[in-house]
Amino acid sequence: MRTVRFGIIGCGMIGREFASAAARWLHLPEMTVRPQIVAVCNRTLATPKIDWFRDHIPTLKQVTSDYRELLGNPDVEAVYIAVPHHLHAEIYLEAMEAGKHLMGEKPFGIDRQANEAIFACVRKHPELCVRCASQFFFFPAAQRIGRMIEAGAFGKIIEVNVGFLHSSDLNPDKPINWKRTRQFNGDYGCLGDLGPHVCTLPFRAGWVPRNVRAVLSNIIPSRPDGQGGVVPCETWDNATLLCEMEVTDSGERFPLTLRAHRISPGQRNNWYIEILGTAASARYSLRQANTLEVLEYQGGAEQQWRRIEMGQETAFRSITQELAQFGVCDAILQMWAAYLYELHAGRPLSRFAGCARPEETALWHRLFTAALESQAGGKTVPVSR
Ligand SMILES: NC(=O)c1ccc[n+]([C@@H]2O[C@H](COP(=O)([O-])OP(=O)(O)OC[C@H]3O[C@@H](n4cnc5c(N)ncnc54)[C@H](O)[C@@H]3O)[C@@H](O)[C@H]2O)c1
Repeated sequence: MRTVRFGIIGCGMIGREFASAAARWLHLPEMTVRPQIVAVCNRTLATPKIDWFRDHIPTLKQVTSDYRELLGNPDVEAVYIAVPHHLHAEIYLEAMEAGKHLMGEKPFGIDRQANEAIFACVRKHPELCVRCASQFFFFPAAQRIGRMIEAGAFGKIIEVNVGFLHSSDLNPDKPINWKRTRQFNGDYGCLGDLGPHVCTLPFRAGWVPRNVRAVLSNIIPSRPDGQGGVVPCETWDNATLLCEMEVTDSGERFPLTLRAHRISPGQRNNWYIEILGTAASARYSLRQANTLEVLEYQGGAEQQWRRIEMGQETAFRSITQELAQFGVCDAILQMWAAYLYELHAGRPLSRFAGCARPEETALWHRLFTAALESQAGGKTVPVSR
């Protein structure tokens, strides 16, 4: 068993999820590589979050508030960087220059310029395994959809609808934080936060946006500042995109709708995908996380949606019994297994069991930048190649 020694930079909400996944590695009996967290870095150390790391990670040797100190630690081979978006380019670049394998967070740069700088550095360091976290397409149903795409099961694609719907900002009394502040979150707003998760599967399928018409909404333009005052909240809350997509292999085109909504009444954390094709259709939503619906159609036959209960049909085998339900923490564990597998083997386990690649993040940025232009001009905008 190979052990890869990790440092975490940014010990917030999602940084802790990696620590939890690493602690549950014994869930994956066939892995021949495992992470070991030896260092953490957070802007502030005097917080219960850091006590949590100290209390639960016996292998932890370095705790620092200076990410350069962590990057200078020769014991650290790989880093997971989960910091606000305005810091992505700076810290990702320094991590790669320090020779660390990198799992970054979406959107992999606050804007297109930052993403291009990161991508240029990735090209300079082909010896490093650099990927971006996005766990949703590791849900068993999404993996099954991936295999259907690989097998050409859908026939000609008629239409695809994807989205990520939250209600995290429905409450107008929720105080502002960095994710609702342009300086730290960027001009993309909700698109930069939720959009990457939605693009991951269609882009991996080889479906590329040619143009986009976007309608972006700032539904709650001011929020409490948490200190008794009210401040402007300038980030986009909801983004609805209509894209013309092209299938890379065949050149065929189809419409795709993408919804990245932070204010979606009745939703909590609903990542969904619907693919309508001439030979088969599939639909999946995290509202019913274990159920995949598939309709296979042969000329003249009756149309019937089948419901498949997925259980633990995972890319990386788990000790959990096959019929048991799968959840978000399991998806995060599978994503980390995919990253470690690829770091170790030099290639992903399969086409859809690999984390988002830097070139895929570049396509997110081309689409999101075009979406901003579309919104500003009220017109359809080509997505640059
Ligand atoms: N994959 C997912 O599902 C998912 C979910 C949430 C967030 N994210 C992404 O993860 C990243 C972090 O988001 P979060 O929700 O964990 O945010 P968070 O605010 O909970 O955590 C960010 C952490 O970074 C620390 N930090 C800030 N500046 C730093 C610096 N210079 N050096 C070291 N630490 C610093 C903060 O102290 C904080 O603890 C973002 O890119 C976000 O888009 C991904």
